[in-house]
Amino acid sequence: MHSTTDQEALDAALTLIHSRQYISPKWLGDPGPDAEQIEKILSAAGAAPDHRRLTPWRLIIIPPERRHLLAEAFAEALVERDAEATEVQKHEARAKAARGPFLVLVVARLDPELGPIHPQERIISAGCAIQNMLLVAHALGFGAGLSSGRALYSQQMRLLFGLGAHEQPLCFLSVGTVTRRKAARPRPVMADYTSTL
Ligand SMILES: Cc1cc2nc3c(=O)[nH]c(=O)nc-3n(C[C@H](O)[C@H](O)[C@H](O)COP(=O)(O)O)c2cc1C
Repeated sequence: MHSTTDQEALDAALTLIHSRQYISPKWLGDPGPDAEQIEKILSAAGAAPDHRRLTPWRLIIIPPERRHLLAEAFAEALVERDAEATEVQKHEARAKAARGPFLVLVVARLDPELGPIHPQERIISAGCAIQNMLLVAHALGFGAGLSSGRALYSQQMRLLFGLGAHEQPLCFLSVGTVTRRKAARPRPVMADYTSTL
């Protein structure tokens, strides 16, 4: 039998989980999280499952005053993919770096020397860390979204973020105030993805 408090905590957790939705970084405005809220969001990552305690991922904050470097990396990655990219396309690529008041890159650490844990488990740990951050951002009343894109996997990005040979950029996480949102998407239900042996 659950106590009232347990039941309330469960209801709050379920409401939080089921009401979270992707908000495009385009629709994340000011204000972003303050220093205390950022600490809450990033600390939640550290609560992720982590086999053998490798912390097999790291987070790189991209503060507003460094966004221009990301903008250039986006534009350069575009030109490398498509030498004929127009000025408009380059402008659009640069503009992506300015979206969302709080921006973090999530990187998986796949170095075998870190420990005997399979890369797959490390990426799962990173995914759990990401979900923890998404949920805390949502609980704080912010919107958040993950983004990737081809530039993420470019050499420019590796150089900008100083990624080691065994590090993999996984996605950007943007957090801010929701200025617009889509209707909630229909979710798969348990029976869609569950079977019994
Ligand atoms: C690692 C990762 C990267 C993603 N990158 C993008 C992206 O670049 N653009 C995009 O529109 N959605 C991207 N998504 C999907 C959204 O984050 C979101 O999960 C999806 O639209 C479903 O919405 P929901 O989170 O509300 O269920 C990514 C998801 C993951 C897990």
